[in-house]
Amino acid sequence: MLSLTNLKVKVGEKVIINNVNFNFEKGKVYALMGPNGSGKSTLALTIMGHPQYQIENGKIEMEGVEINNLSADKRAQLGLFLSFQTPIAVSGVNVFQLLRLALSGKKDPLEIKKEIEKYASVLKIPNELINRSLNEGASGGEKKKLEVLQAAVLEPKFLIFDEVDTGVDVDAMKVIAQFIKKHKKDKTYLLITHYNRILRYIKPDKVLIMIDGEIVKVGDYKLAYQIEKKGYEKLCI
Ligand SMILES: Nc1ncnc2c1ncn2[C@@H]1O[C@H](COP(=O)(O)OP(=O)(O)OP(=O)(O)O)[C@@H](O)[C@H]1O
Ligand SMILES: [Mg+2]
Repeated sequence: MLSLTNLKVKVGEKVIINNVNFNFEKGKVYALMGPNGSGKSTLALTIMGHPQYQIENGKIEMEGVEINNLSADKRAQLGLFLSFQTPIAVSGVNVFQLLRLALSGKKDPLEIKKEIEKYASVLKIPNELINRSLNEGASGGEKKKLEVLQAAVLEPKFLIFDEVDTGVDVDAMKVIAQFIKKHKKDKTYLLITHYNRILRYIKPDKVLIMIDGEIVKVGDYKLAYQIEKKGYEKLCI
């Protein structure tokens, strides 16, 4: 589905991602873990095409097509989706208006509206929040739920959730996890997380550990438990 080959990423003169090689397969769930500042969000933003992160070397391919030079919106059209670690507020635009624009020509506005209502009910997002400017004044957990709702309506193929479990209460986390489980078919998930709790509900096929911009270890779901018990230093350094 998505492959990274010898990927090296810089911001200014600083190398953040170094020599990352990985192939994400269709229909699988991956967890990406690692200490603060190890480069997880940078990797996510680079895959999505954030202009601040320059690819110094290597390539990103989506279904066999190199996407290094594509803009973020082109990547989104190819089926990439990123739920931000810190979702930004968009003043004057509600989630319906945003999704209608993103899906123009692909989904009927009425269908979009119906889907928003359906998923808002599943995710327990109140109507008032749906009608508000996106993320404006929303709590941490509400923002994360709104990200999941957008993913549901957009129906991407490769979904990155950057700390979707941070700041959400246990009920919301279960709802989010169940949601991901239910919508796994033909999709690939990359869940960036610091905690095992979400991984108890969605068992990842593989757990990747990133340290200092490199993927230093890959294992099955048990690796996440070992990390929790022993910490990164003992296991990976
Ligand atoms: N735009 C930027 N300018 C300068 N340094 C940056 C920039 N973006 C990221 N970095 C640096 O790159 C490193 C990796 O940051 P990143 O946000 O990818 O870490 P992370 O693994 O997601 O950490 P966390 O678990 O805390 O979210 C950090 O040292 C960070 O300060
Ligand atoms: Mg991060």
